[in-house]
Amino acid sequence: MPKSTVPDIREHKGAIGSKRLVMITAYDAPGARMVDEAGADMILVGDSLAMVVLGYEDTLQVTVEDIAHHTAAVSRTKPEALIVADLPWLSYHISIEETVKNAAKLIRAGANAIKLEGGRRRIPMIEALLSAEIPVMGHIGLTPQSINAMGGFKVQARDTKGATDLVSAAKALEHAGCFAIVLEGVPSQVASMVTTSVNIPTIGIGAGPECDGQVLVLHDLLGFEKKITPKFVRSYAQFHVEGVSALSEFISDVRNGSFPSEDESYFLSSETSEELGLYGAM
Ligand code: KIV
Repeated sequence: MPKSTVPDIREHKGAIGSKRLVMITAYDAPGARMVDEAGADMILVGDSLAMVVLGYEDTLQVTVEDIAHHTAAVSRTKPEALIVADLPWLSYHISIEETVKNAAKLIRAGANAIKLEGGRRRIPMIEALLSAEIPVMGHIGLTPQSINAMGGFKVQARDTKGATDLVSAAKALEHAGCFAIVLEGVPSQVASMVTTSVNIPTIGIGAGPECDGQVLVLHDLLGFEKKITPKFVRSYAQFHVEGVSALSEFISDVRNGSFPSEDESYFLSSETSEELGLYGAM
């Protein structure tokens, strides 16, 4: 399969059934290989890195250097999927110059596009990125980098004003030149309104089934942690449970002397054993 490109993704607007877009996060080489082999259209090196890999409580702690480091690991696997890297908090809020320089670090690390959070207020930054030939994916609704301003991870756009503001933010992002928009944590009907109002794909997370595609966090999908996940997450595996059980078996095999076996060990030749006076050794 050829490498997925930004124009390919844009063409999925209005796609249904098997053509719906799928984006899954990955932060390292084995994760990226799994996501790519499974056939996702896009790999997102999300700032969720902070919470699912680095152990922080929110996404605000992660830096451009962290995202670049993990983007490079994903990129080394040469996936067919388009690599989208998140611009972390404060990397695109201070000045246009800093925004473009920070995005360039992610492109040089191997990203094909960047994603940033927010609506109209981000337009000058988005225009500057596009004029530096950096494709931009928008992200509106529940934007985790606004956790303090929003007062927590709360579903957004639940009233008439919220819904119409979201539609107008999506139109502004489309007009500025974003090639796709993530819609996070909004009622299904509002996601549907946004999706029919713009000519670029919407990728939903906690935004119902009527978006042009869906995104989920790899570690949630595979059950890497034994924890309660939000209701929009569907876990398809229980890696934590299976991992703990495999590791406990290993620990018990070491302690009961059954690991390593002869098949799992190396031995001297009989001549060398003899020369060393190790009679009886294999
Ligand atoms: O960082 C991330 O994983 C994201 C997705 C939740 C869309 O932004």
